[in-house]
Amino acid sequence: MMQGGNRWMRALLPAAMVAFAACDATPPPAGMERGAELFETCVPCHGATGQGDADIAAPAIAGLPQWYVQEQLMGFQAGFRGKHADDLPGLRMRPMAVSLNRDGDIESVSEYVASLEATYPASTLHGNAGRGADSYVVCVTCHGEDGLGNPDLHAPPIVQMHDWYLLNQLRNFKSGARGAHPEDVWGGTMRVNTLVLDDQAMQDVIAYVQTLR
Ligand code: HEC
Ligand code: HEC
Repeated sequence: MMQGGNRWMRALLPAAMVAFAACDATPPPAGMERGAELFETCVPCHGATGQGDADIAAPAIAGLPQWYVQEQLMGFQAGFRGKHADDLPGLRMRPMAVSLNRDGDIESVSEYVASLEATYPASTLHGNAGRGADSYVVCVTCHGEDGLGNPDLHAPPIVQMHDWYLLNQLRNFKSGARGAHPEDVWGGTMRVNTLVLDDQAMQDVIAYVQTLR
């Protein structure tokens, strides 16, 4: 009961802080300083160093490139992501992106997130990395031999992410909770790659991705 209550507080606090910040008539100019201020509203879920929180399915975001964080925040805002009824973690995140509603907010907080050092959280799944290597042959084109992604193809680095988060995303792409919106061009290029993967194959390929660290 206590724990449930705390979780509620953690979920509500950021919204209250955003409401408070919105009362401030003169926000600092766009950039790192404003990014650091906005990031305070992310800390209850993503942690002070952007390390994430498995209890509420909030991934590590530290060190994700600025362009990718911006695109995802815009995707959440537009409703490409985090709007599907089955996507509970996404539904938790979406209002936070919507609250970044002043010019330069998304750029500023994304720049700040990108400046944090990636945290490489420990593995929790037990996929077969050997079998996963075979599946990863397809992924290399976009995510690279090193799992660091390719900005030209809008493919993010995946090597530093939580394994349970990557699994959730592969499931989301496959089910169409992510990447199926007609305007979500880049999500669509990713989605097709998940249609052939069953759950075991997903866990295997993620196990392989984690060996690239
Ligand atoms: C109420 C908790 C909560 C708060 C506050 C929150 N997030 Fe999230 N965030 C989540 C969850 C849960 C997910 C995972 C969504 C999913 O599984 O698709 C997420 C996902 C993300 C992602 C996608 C990461 C990826 O690899 O695609 C980004 C980027 C992100 N959050 C940035 C932020 C920023 C920036 C803030 C502050 C402005 C913020 N979040 C505040 C819960 C939160
Ligand atoms: C044609 C290029 C392409 C290929 C091939 C590809 N991806 Fe992706 N992937 C992307 C793009 C683009 C995104 C970002 C989509 C978005 O903006 O929502 C992405 C996103 C992801 C994500 C979500 C990351 C996050 O932080 O939320 C995961 C996990 C992922 N890919 C894994 C894989 C795996 C595993 C394979 C091979 C089976 C693969 N991808 C093949 C382009 C590709």
